[in-house]
Order: sequence, then structure tokens, then C-alpha cells
Amino acid sequence: MLIAPSLLSCDFSKFGEEIRRMDLAGADYMHLDVMDGHFVPNITFGAPVIKYVRSFTDKPFDVHLMISEPLRYIDDFCDAGADIITFHVESDSDVNETIDKIHSRNVKAGVVLKPKTPAEAVFDCLDKVEMVLVMTVEPGFGGQSFMADMLPKIKAIKDEITRRGLDVIIEADGGIGEGNIALCAEAGVDVAVAGTAVFKAENPAEVIKKLQNN
Ligand code: DX5
Ligand code: ZN
Repeated sequence: MLIAPSLLSCDFSKFGEEIRRMDLAGADYMHLDVMDGHFVPNITFGAPVIKYVRSFTDKPFDVHLMISEPLRYIDDFCDAGADIITFHVESDSDVNETIDKIHSRNVKAGVVLKPKTPAEAVFDCLDKVEMVLVMTVEPGFGGQSFMADMLPKIKAIKDEITRRGLDVIIEADGGIGEGNIALCAEAGVDVAVAGTAVFKAENPAEVIKKLQNN
């Protein structure tokens, strides 16, 4: 299992050093949660901040856009150094247009599903993306409880990817830790986002290693 620490749980007064700390702790990706206070009831940071911390690691920047108009900002996040950009199918942007825009910048594209959105919502674009991100909490905040009722949805998407022989990875995001990572692996998760579980740990490297061994 690949592990993508969510920097939403980090000490933002030391954002760059926190990214370096996660790199040294063995993180596979850096999960960067962008929120606009409109699509979700919280505001975090935008492309200028990501640009400033890009140089703190060579690990992939996995940018999760929880914003209403992702298409409008794709160039900014690509210029800032995003390696993967995921956006919500529930946003106001056209899904195919946004995927094409991300690919036009040679950046990997992913679509995200809120808990209430069914697996079928991504079946039409499954052959166009590199990643599907399944939210296992309501987007907007770290530290929430894992929604185990999302596991059948993850499995349904995994089965569809397998049935069609597609090369798409599944990322799960929200409330993931040692107590539920095995369930995520069993359901077909390839990359797990972990914010609180990693940043609140005494020894993040130890937690990342344990999570990776699933
Ligand atoms: C929530 C974010 C998640 C969150 C994960 O909207 O997309 O990435 O930060 O944090 P934990 O692991 O604490 O739920
Ligand atoms: Zn996220």
C-alpha cells in the first residue's frame, strides 16, 4: 500500500519542513488538500503556497482540489508543481474538459467521489484517468471517523477497473489508520491518505511503515 500523508494535519507554521519530515519518514506521495470555502465549508491554501513548498521534496505532489471551479485553476496548480491533480465530479467544471486540461500539461488526472456519490458516477471517465479518489469522510476537515460503508463502493470501482482491464489506481481518503487500513487493502485501495494517523503519531515513520505493509 502506498501512503500519502495529508498535510492538512501538519504544523502550517513549518509547512516546508513538515513536507521534508514526511519525505524522510517514508511517505510515497504528499497529499495536498486545497479547499475554497465554497465547495467545502473550509479554506486552506492555493497554488502560490504549493509553489513555495515544491522544493522541499521530490516525492509526487498529489493535489486534491475541493473547489467549485477546478478547470479554472488547473494551469496554476500545474505551474506550482502538481504531479497528480484530483478534482470532484460534483464540482461545477465539466469532467472530461478538466481531465483533458490536466493531461494537456502532462500531469496525472484523477476524479474524486464524495461519500453520497455512487461508484457509477466515474464509470464513464474511468478509461481517461490515472486515479480514482474515494472519500471515506465528508470532505472539508481532517480528524473525522472512517466511513466503512464506503468499502463496497471501492470494491465496485476496483471490480470495474479489473473487468475492463484498465490501469487506474484507487486512492482512499479520510479517517484512515492502523485500525482500518487492512479493510482498505482488501477492498482494493492502492494509495491511502493519512493525515491525523501520521501527524499525531509519536513516530510517523513507524506508522507509515505499518500502513505500507498492507
Ligand atoms: C478531508 C481531506 C483529507 C483529510 C485526511 O477533506 O481531503 O485528505 O485531510 O485527514 P485524516 O486522515 O485526518 O482524515
Ligand atoms: Zn484529501
